[in-house]
Amino acid sequence: MPPHPSLGFGLGLRVDHYETILHDLPAVDWFEALTENYLVPGGKPLYHLMRIREHYPMVMHGVSLSIGSAEPLNRAYLDELKALAQRIEPAWISDHLCWTGVGGKNLHDLLPLPYTDEALKHVVARVRTVQDILGRRILLENVSSYVSFCDSRMTEWDFLRTVAEEADCLILLDVNNIYVSSINHEFDPHEYLAAIPIERVQQMHLAGHQNHGDYLIDTHDHPVPDPVWALYAAAVRRFGPVSTMIERDANIPPLGELQLELAAARRVAASALIDTRWQRAG
Ligand SMILES: [Fe+2]
Repeated sequence: MPPHPSLGFGLGLRVDHYETILHDLPAVDWFEALTENYLVPGGKPLYHLMRIREHYPMVMHGVSLSIGSAEPLNRAYLDELKALAQRIEPAWISDHLCWTGVGGKNLHDLLPLPYTDEALKHVVARVRTVQDILGRRILLENVSSYVSFCDSRMTEWDFLRTVAEEADCLILLDVNNIYVSSINHEFDPHEYLAAIPIERVQQMHLAGHQNHGDYLIDTHDHPVPDPVWALYAAAVRRFGPVSTMIERDANIPPLGELQLELAAARRVAASALIDTRWQRAG
């Protein structure tokens, strides 16, 4: 089992829902705050965040670490991240297994890495440095992708597993991203799940995407579709009751609608866990 007990079923914290959350205190187990929205010490976003934090467990999720970049780690960003974590006291901090820019430019995209021994060594060393600076283990999330490198010498799932094991970090498994990439790159998503060490998976993401026929785009603007629910059930059968949340970044509906989707996640997970117990008993 991962080091932190499951927080249950959460939602990504979005500005549109601040008032409703503070007014209704909805039955959501926890929230995931987007780190970059709260790095300025003070102001309205942080004020709301701290008020919501009084009522809910929280985790922090970033997009700027650029752990795979060939450029030096951004020490100022890491210091800000550490200071924010000291205020919020999140259960954990996550970012993505990707790179986001070059030549001092942030491309605002979570780009895949070449899966080579050289990239592996590079990322492992950087994760260790980040963890030393933050004084805690981090979670790295698998990204969705649309291109791959000819130089890659291993699968994405072998790369992710080896980074986690050699850097001793944890994994945020995005089930939708695995599904999106499995269609785009024509691999078996169950093979991906089977390669990931159970004890490293601390959190899961669920989201929707856009279907363009022979390729999918990871847009986070739709409800979770059936194939992603099916893969989530398989993930719960393998990894157990891991903290799970729904990510919606565009076409954000009223909070009640996301709570209904979260209730569906609870049902899928509960029935997957019953299946697992049934199989083990049999
Ligand atoms: Fe995600």
